[in-house]
Amino acid sequence: MLYKELGRTGERVSVVWLGTWQFGSGSWGFGKSYGEKECLEAVYASVEAGVNVIDTAEVYGGGVSEKIVGKAVKELGDRVLIATKVAPHHLTYNGVIEACERSLNRLGVKTIDLYQIHFPNPLIPITQTMRAMEHLVKTGKIRYIGVSNFSLGQLIKARQALKSEDIVSNQVRYNLLQRQPENHLLPYCIREKINILAYSPLAQGLLTGKYTSTNPPRDIIRRINPLYTRRYLRRIEPLLTELRNLGEKYGASVGQVALAWVFAHEGCVAIAGAKNREQALNNAAAGNIQLTSDEMEKLNKLSMQTRPGAMEIIQTIPRILGF
Ligand SMILES: NC(=O)c1ccc[n+]([C@@H]2O[C@H](COP(=O)([O-])OP(=O)(O)OC[C@H]3O[C@@H](n4cnc5c(N)ncnc54)[C@H](OP(=O)(O)O)[C@@H]3O)[C@@H](O)[C@H]2O)c1
Repeated sequence: MLYKELGRTGERVSVVWLGTWQFGSGSWGFGKSYGEKECLEAVYASVEAGVNVIDTAEVYGGGVSEKIVGKAVKELGDRVLIATKVAPHHLTYNGVIEACERSLNRLGVKTIDLYQIHFPNPLIPITQTMRAMEHLVKTGKIRYIGVSNFSLGQLIKARQALKSEDIVSNQVRYNLLQRQPENHLLPYCIREKINILAYSPLAQGLLTGKYTSTNPPRDIIRRINPLYTRRYLRRIEPLLTELRNLGEKYGASVGQVALAWVFAHEGCVAIAGAKNREQALNNAAAGNIQLTSDEMEKLNKLSMQTRPGAMEIIQTIPRILGF
């Protein structure tokens, strides 16, 4: 497993993290094929394979995800760091303090390693939220402050609102098909040593190559994802073929190469969601792959040719409505 520094903290974090949005999401989210047992096994397998950060959030599974992560870390102790998130409707001063207390209880720990603002909330002044975050650091409830889904402008304002701490990371969607962070965010974050924590690095499973135009996923989460139209599933086939070719060279799967593309970028780590031990092990094993600059260039070229457009969004509407 390769490791990178978290912000300027001196903390070493694995290039692949385990994402747990899937935990406790039940039939509403990612399907019914797994439960708490499989989720716990996913955590243990990840940590055995060198993953040292688990990402969760107070809203995942209505708190169930944090509870499962808490059960697992009881066994694992300080081998693993916990990253969780405060929801955008809890960003007043008291809201943050109380939400953090509830997360600590569900997780069964005294300190959260990385506490992130899940989404910005334009109705609540960021200065108020950040005052609460700094209070949590001072009182030892959290160690590091992160944000998520913040634009460059929002990130700069959030940093300016802090007096004694700095932001160590911004968690945003980033994968071979969705590369928006490259425009402004990534260059700034590299310069300022703020990590980009890439969520949906497998485009919710699409970049594992297992879904095709004749075998689309059926669950609600992906039904509303514009990448899962039959037309788009056909369009990305050349990119999947190249991922497969590179996989053969590295003895790796399509998804592992897609993850390696993410963390090949300076300052980036991939938060890969998993529902069971097998997926978790497979994702963690990607953490050893180092793609060459020629391979990156080839993948970048193919990915630019397959950028999703307005057509994908329009074609998602009937699928959201259940047609
Ligand atoms: N901050 C935010 O707003 C935000 C938003 C989204 C996600 N996140 C975080 O990022 C994490 C990852 O994002 P994500 O879950 O959206 O997408 P992802 O990691 O790109 O995809 C996860 C899905 O891909 C499939 N999969 C994973 N590993 C696989 C493997 N090795 N082989 C085959 N299939 C595999 C699984 O679904 P199937 O088995 O059903 O195909 C899994 O649920 C989340 O768990 C969460 O922690 C954060």
